Amino acid sequence: MQANVVVIGSLNMDLVARAPRLPREGETLSGESFATVPGGKGANQAVAAARLGARVAMVGCVGDDAYGAQLRTGLEAEGIDCSALAEVADCSSGVALIVVDDNSQNAIVVIPGANGELSASRVEALDAVLQGAQILICQLEIPSLTVAHVLCRGHALGKTVILNPAPASEALPPAWYAWIDYLIPNESEAALLSGLPVDSLESAGAAAAHLRRAGAAKVILTLGERGALFVDDDGARHFPTRAVRAVDTTAAGDTFVGAFAAGLARGFDEAEAIRFGQRAAALSVTRAGAQPSIPHLHELDTPEQP
Ligand code: RIB
Repeated sequence: MQANVVVIGSLNMDLVARAPRLPREGETLSGESFATVPGGKGANQAVAAARLGARVAMVGCVGDDAYGAQLRTGLEAEGIDCSALAEVADCSSGVALIVVDDNSQNAIVVIPGANGELSASRVEALDAVLQGAQILICQLEIPSLTVAHVLCRGHALGKTVILNPAPASEALPPAWYAWIDYLIPNESEAALLSGLPVDSLESAGAAAAHLRRAGAAKVILTLGERGALFVDDDGARHFPTRAVRAVDTTAAGDTFVGAFAAGLARGFDEAEAIRFGQRAAALSVTRAGAQPSIPHLHELDTPEQP
């Protein structure tokens, strides 16, 4: 199988507690339930792309522990090519501690573990995987030198390069922008990267324009229930989304990114791929967990109810 979408990124086991609300500093709260769920932004995006019709390969690292084996088996069961997924000796797999509250909001602490071992040199040795791809997707849960290598190499190879700058903790290195075809931040990431507040459609437009001036060819700013804003050379275009009853927003952004890439790989134009991503993400928030919440193609091909 030749993958048309290659995801270079993280795999985590998500340890998910549900509680009435998020705990305050120093507080111990009684929770309602606990689940162990496969996640990680990279793996979630790979699963979304695979379930929604792309041929996907995952480049990443897991530890030599039980979680690592589970994470690999889960991706393989989705038909994802895991031949570039390394098992790192004497290392634990990535783990995310997640609390989801009754308003479906979450707080997450990520312990990178083996994700931190996905070095640029490891990815350099997998250049054939990158060369074979049509679309490369990266996030920020792996070392930044590795992200820089993927963006730069992907651009040099003429691939469609997608960066989901999540989680964002500081401005992106200026050189990265010219290597990115689609920068896909959410509101808080766009605010952090641009240094501008993002709390309305207008301010989102200003932040996206700033990111384009920095050099990103196209920006898709996801706005939760306000939809998404797409900005390219032709200007800004708003894509509203339908309201849904959210249960858990974990991995909604990942579902959008993976679905958008799958849409492009299937030959959709950008507007179709954005709407496809929105429909997938809307469905994902109605279900609990990261990868278990990501829809399959047949669920999206069913006509929507009015
Ligand atoms: O985007 C959601 C993901 O963020 C979770 O699955 C968790 O692993 C963290 O990486």
